[in-house]
Amino acid sequence: MYRSHTCGELRIINKGTQVTLAGWVQTVRKLGASITFVDLRDRYGITQLLFNEELTKQLEENPLGREFVLQTTGTVNERSNKNGNIPTGEIEIAVTSFKILNKSAVPPFTIQDDTDGGDDLRMKYRYLDLRRNAVKKNLELRYAVNRAARNYLHQQGFMDIETPFLIKSTPEGARDFVVPSRMNPGQFYALPQSPQTFKQLLMVSGYDRYYQVVKCFRDEDLRADRQPEFTQIDCEMAFVEQEDILNMFEGMIKSIFKEVKGIEYAETVQRMTWEDAMWNYGNDKPDIRFDMKVLNLKKPATVYTDKQDNAALINDAGFKVFDEAETVVAISVPGCSEYSRKQTDELTEWVKRPQIGMKGLVFIKVNADGTYKSSVDKFYPEEKLKAIADATNANAGDLILILAGAEERTRKSISDLRMEMAGRLGLRKDTEFKLLWVLDFPLFEYDEEGNRWVARHHPFTSPKPEQIETMINNNPVIDNAAEYLKHPYASIKANAYDMVLNGNEIGGGSIRIFQRELQEKMFAALGMNEEEQLHKFGFLLGAFEYGAPPHGGIAFGFDRLCSILGGSESIRDFIAFPKNNSGRDVMLDAPATIDEKQFEELQIKLNLKS
Ligand code: AMO
Repeated sequence: MYRSHTCGELRIINKGTQVTLAGWVQTVRKLGASITFVDLRDRYGITQLLFNEELTKQLEENPLGREFVLQTTGTVNERSNKNGNIPTGEIEIAVTSFKILNKSAVPPFTIQDDTDGGDDLRMKYRYLDLRRNAVKKNLELRYAVNRAARNYLHQQGFMDIETPFLIKSTPEGARDFVVPSRMNPGQFYALPQSPQTFKQLLMVSGYDRYYQVVKCFRDEDLRADRQPEFTQIDCEMAFVEQEDILNMFEGMIKSIFKEVKGIEYAETVQRMTWEDAMWNYGNDKPDIRFDMKVLNLKKPATVYTDKQDNAALINDAGFKVFDEAETVVAISVPGCSEYSRKQTDELTEWVKRPQIGMKGLVFIKVNADGTYKSSVDKFYPEEKLKAIADATNANAGDLILILAGAEERTRKSISDLRMEMAGRLGLRKDTEFKLLWVLDFPLFEYDEEGNRWVARHHPFTSPKPEQIETMINNNPVIDNAAEYLKHPYASIKANAYDMVLNGNEIGGGSIRIFQRELQEKMFAALGMNEEEQLHKFGFLLGAFEYGAPPHGGIAFGFDRLCSILGGSESIRDFIAFPKNNSGRDVMLDAPATIDEKQFEELQIKLNLKS
């Protein structure tokens, strides 16, 4: 061993001990000609080294630079000038000998919490970035989450079984990454978007509690919470109903909270139907750390047919914007009634940005003295403003914000506005954690481009038993695209669920179809003919003929879970070697072209359409 101790473990009780440390030079401080202090760093911490006059002279002949790898022997001394900020701050090593194990080029950025390196530079030299304490803490958290999940699942009798990466397409809604086969010219593997079909096959094989911490590959547009290759905690159980899955994985998340964050999440995780989530928050993954629920002032007849809007509060006022809109929704923002004209103008501009895309913003100020001031005073007398304010549960001092427009966009925009205002008010605290189950998702989603139905979760998800007939007995063809919401398929709900943490989807799953006949009907509903079904999923349909048990499962976005627990928006911070927003690994400079020889072996000729 090159060392007797790490750079993070020596304390005052080790005073007088002879030790050998090895690590990287963080800083060198020379005090006059007689003394040099060196901070030596490794994965475990930083220890101060004291070089006396004689050794300082030796250093002049062999100067140390930042990130040099140093081995040093000396005695643990009590420091005269103690540093309360680090655990080793009471001691230093009086160096008796040292050896430079390796030199270092000057690093392109400083290896500190607040580094001077921009994102691109840090990613290019990710191996140096990973030396920084802030990044190391994230990876430690990731490992802790991994351990906690594995411990829990192992205790519950789950078995970790690996599934292949070179496979045939699994439909999770993204594009596949494909890999050409040299041995089968002209043929390609797809990398799994998830191990979905394999875990179902494992249920058929009798491994009734499966899990895997597994890489998934999806060629989709990237965002802060999406990477082209990411990791799932992927799970499946046989002989279970939805309730069993919810309980089992609520247990897992709570166990992770306890082990990783020391948080006892004692309360039962709140549950909400997809429809209620959309109606009350405009979003299928609502952040419930704060209230600010949506007031539905007006909705089209085709959606949320069981819900009642509050159209009476805004109708018959001659205000064209509301009268002509499909949907009118409002939120009441606490404590913002004193917003100036400049501030409300700025908010109006905010909702008009192309990312939001609204035409304007109506506001009502609920003044502290009980009066109301609104941008639509002309149309709505005070008692009407009061009625709207009361319906939003507004208090004196609140600012009511109202959006009007087409259903989908307006609902999404009020959700964006709600999140924005909560952010401005500091209500999205990264030290507070609120879990939520969203249940009863729609089975199908309308695909505008193809004028057809696609699976909202994936095609193996089962419909609610009482709606199976609706699926089987109705033709999936959509005659009138504009009125797709009137099609019976639009109202079919699935046995599907998502787990939401602080407004982020951290997991999703479903109870599966396990009979061949129903699975075939599902494929047919998605527009797949028999030939296509057999070509794509013949193996699964075949397996369902040999005693497939009822089963269901869930997959958690492991990177996402870690980033939220670590208080960060970006999952990249929690991945050792992530890709950038264009899907590039800037350190490896990948993807890249391949050799002519490789093309030849694959019998592939490039014909790029620039
Ligand atoms: P789903 O597609 O919902 O379900 O994925 C499960 C979870 O994985 C995370 N996730 C991602 N994380 C980072 N980058 C991405 N590109 C990305 N895409 C998804 C999300 C999501 O909740 N096979 C099903 C699960 C099942 O039915 O059991 C599946 O993959 O947190």
